[in-house]
Amino acid sequence: MILYFSATGNSKYVAERIAAAFDDTAVSIEKADTEITLSENEMLGFVTPVNWWELPILTREYMQRLTVKNYHAPYAYIVTTYGTTPGCTFADAKRILKARGVQLNAGFSIKMPDNWTPIFDLSEPQKVRQQNDEAEKYIDAVLENIRDKKTGNLMQHKKPIAVKIFTDPFLNSERKTKNFYVEDTCIGCGLCAKRCPVQAIEIKNKKPVWVKNQCALCLRCLHHCPKFAIQYGNGKTRQHGQYRNPHTKV
Ligand SMILES: Cc1cc2nc3c(=O)[nH]c(=O)nc-3n(C[C@H](O)[C@H](O)[C@H](O)COP(=O)(O)O)c2cc1C
Ligand code: SF4
Ligand code: SF4
Repeated sequence: MILYFSATGNSKYVAERIAAAFDDTAVSIEKADTEITLSENEMLGFVTPVNWWELPILTREYMQRLTVKNYHAPYAYIVTTYGTTPGCTFADAKRILKARGVQLNAGFSIKMPDNWTPIFDLSEPQKVRQQNDEAEKYIDAVLENIRDKKTGNLMQHKKPIAVKIFTDPFLNSERKTKNFYVEDTCIGCGLCAKRCPVQAIEIKNKKPVWVKNQCALCLRCLHHCPKFAIQYGNGKTRQHGQYRNPHTKV
């Protein structure tokens, strides 16, 4: 079984590629039970983005609640899709899963377009296409490593778990939903509210309103709005464009 979280499709696409290569099943953690049973010799995989050098809140919370009944997976791995660094995601996941009785054997990373558009510019389709084309070779390498049941933290550009001292408070402050704003082009379609994984958005008077002070900050709402009406922070997001992985739909 491959459990994934994905806001804009990168991690979903990678989970689907792994599933196809190993005749496995990819399941979104938004739909998966937190109690799972594996068949004999079934591998356990996680695929997730990176958020501020860490696991996204939703991935972490899912792992913290996970129960694998009669755990006997011969091999468990995590793959992170990232733009600049997967940070301490392997060490973090290993620690959380150990407390749930799961031994994480390996960590891999795949460089893909960085959907943190308050900083990164994804407005040039050709550059984005090139980044996705390049990701194919990293995906193939990860498939090879899983096939060979490689072990250890094989992520690129990784950071030690001590970075959490700095990144935890930063992530918490950036998650404030007051940083979002909506432009006049909004047509009140309600898609953002429907797709938000933590129900942080409600439509009131045909406009989205953030009804929670903090959210998971996955940016799914910003990248999927059909009118690109949702923006975040300093105004750079409009000029940096929207992103959705071209190979799959979230
Ligand atoms: C809030 C936020 C923080 C992020 N932080 C990092 C980071 O620290 N390092 C990194 O390489 N990518 C970071 N990213 C980029 C995503 O991890 C990357 O684009 C990922 O492939 C997106 O996966 P998805 O399309 O499955 O959602 C961040 C994205 C968001 C939304
Ligand atoms: S998805 Fe976009 S257009 Fe639709 S309600 Fe939300 S902000 Fe408005
Ligand atoms: S409000 Fe937007 S960024 Fe925040 S969790 Fe919901 S979809 Fe993700």
